[in-house]
Amino acid sequence: MRTFADNDYPSDHKTNWRVIAGLWPYLREFRSRVFVAAACLVVAKLATVATPVALKYIVDYLDKSRGSTLVMWVPILLVVGYGVLRFSGTLFNELRDAIFARVAERAMRRVSLRVFEHLHERELAYHLDRKTGGLARDIERGTNGISFLLRFTLFNIVPTLLEITLVSGILSIAFRPGYVIAIVVAVVVYVLFSIKVTEWRTGFVREANARDNQSNARAMDSLLNYETVKYFNNEAYEAARYDEDLKVWETARLKNRLSLAALNAGQALIIGVTLIVIMSMAVSDVASGTITLGDFTMINAYLLQLFIPLNALGFVYREIRQALVNVERLFGLLGEKSAIVDAPEARDLVTQGATVTFENVSFAYQPNRPILKGVTFEVPAGHKVAVVGASGAGKSTIGRLLFRFFDVGGGRIAIDGQDIRDVTQHSLRAAIGVVPQDTVLFNDTLYQNIAYGRPDATDEEVRQAARLAHLEPFIESLPEGYGTKVGERGLKLSGGEKQRVAIARVILKNPPILLLDEATSSLDSLSEQAILAALKEVSRQRTTLVIAHRLSTIRDADTILVMADGQIAESGSHQQLLAAGGRYAELWSQQHRGDSVEVAHPDDADGTE
Ligand SMILES: Nc1ncnc2c1ncn2[C@@H]1O[C@H](COP(=O)(O)OP(=O)(O)O)[C@@H](O)[C@H]1O
Ligand SMILES: [Mg+2]
Repeated sequence: MRTFADNDYPSDHKTNWRVIAGLWPYLREFRSRVFVAAACLVVAKLATVATPVALKYIVDYLDKSRGSTLVMWVPILLVVGYGVLRFSGTLFNELRDAIFARVAERAMRRVSLRVFEHLHERELAYHLDRKTGGLARDIERGTNGISFLLRFTLFNIVPTLLEITLVSGILSIAFRPGYVIAIVVAVVVYVLFSIKVTEWRTGFVREANARDNQSNARAMDSLLNYETVKYFNNEAYEAARYDEDLKVWETARLKNRLSLAALNAGQALIIGVTLIVIMSMAVSDVASGTITLGDFTMINAYLLQLFIPLNALGFVYREIRQALVNVERLFGLLGEKSAIVDAPEARDLVTQGATVTFENVSFAYQPNRPILKGVTFEVPAGHKVAVVGASGAGKSTIGRLLFRFFDVGGGRIAIDGQDIRDVTQHSLRAAIGVVPQDTVLFNDTLYQNIAYGRPDATDEEVRQAARLAHLEPFIESLPEGYGTKVGERGLKLSGGEKQRVAIARVILKNPPILLLDEATSSLDSLSEQAILAALKEVSRQRTTLVIAHRLSTIRDADTILVMADGQIAESGSHQQLLAAGGRYAELWSQQHRGDSVEVAHPDDADGTE
């Protein structure tokens, strides 16, 4: 996965506009809400701009009537109006927030769902490469960014511009041009300053984010490897490595903060100078009698009021820039295409018995390291074919290719004559039941984990599957039975128990093709015999591809393929291969040297991690 550090995104105006354009669909969904919210906004702004005018009339009335008799109800009425205007300004702002909230929240929901679906669409290779901790951060920042962009571009930038225009209009009608000129100059200087400094800061912000991702990914990885850390007493080493990341992160954050302080101080300076200049003009105008005391208070009120959203403008500009980067990144993520996709004209796989054929299949994970070099074999419908060979020979790879986790580099794989690249992934995967080498479970109850094989299965079907997979005695021994929580990734179960859950799931799924990847490797001999019996039951009438390390488990296969050097070195039945006296015979005698009685196989010890 890419991070900010290794790929500095260009955020020119074109990409920014593309990001903003990408948000339109989310606004369109609630057109009337957006419209009402915009109306509330205009009312709020009009009230805000009118407030200082009310203040002016109060002051002028009081000033004029000094020494003469005062009609009390006039200023009181004005004060009430002043209060109502102030209140409306806030009220309508809150109203538009409340009305618009739905739009932003819904957008976040839609995007989160899309990201989730997208991640499940991606191919296995992508998921093997990704760093979960960093990815989670990117997604979180991206969805928050969308919400921010929706709220603030529409409801901060635009209304601030509206307010500045309205105030400038009022000032230019009421007073000499000096005021408007001074205000416009101040605003322009302020905005330019904010933008320039913010651009300078963007590098620091990105750096801080990249470091944040990195230290997070490191911490996650370390915690996921909790047991390994303990095995090697490496807590201090892990802490030191994490702290190294944190140190870089600390420096990046510090630069971020310091530059933020510089920006805020600069903005405050511009505001201060503007106040001095404009209020001096107002003081001299009051002294010379060109404007009233009421005008003076009004100008002061406008200045203070204008700089509130302007101050936020700096913040908003910063955040919008940041949000644009984050959302662009999220959209970039969504825009990446999966390497494994359905062909445009893909049909559903149709099976009749399900004969699996590999025709001269070659494959490599990395271009310079071929794993399979022209593998050809057939599993006739309803037959059982076993693949044996040394660890790393490419046995599991054959299963991954059949399941289309990867596409073949050369040759083809077909089921009942249909190339698996020409059928939908959904129908292909529906036809294959996999008992993987390492089963990972959901952090849920045993029941839920078994029922995952077919979520709509009845209670009885789930229990039946558990029984067939020889899980029942184990489950009954648990105080909470089927309701037992299995822990994150199923870590509270032994390797053998997890494998039996995997078998029960496949029994529920009931597919025409079975792919057993060392399905009994984590079992002791006794449960192995029981499970083999169960698997034999399940695999009857099904096309079965068994990958095995322990030869005793596949003696009964119709055909045994011996893998070596990325090719099939030998094939035949158990008896034929023994008689041939080749690799298989050698492996067999190695595994059975001196032990006529089968004991536990230390070489097949639980390999969960
Ligand atoms: N995603 C991957 N990327 C790169 N190499 C891989 C990947 N998965 C497996 N390999 C390598 O491919 C070889 C065959 O792996 P595999 O088919 O799992 O072996 P096995 O016969 O033990 O099941 C191994 O050397 C392994 O290191
Ligand atoms: Mg394997």
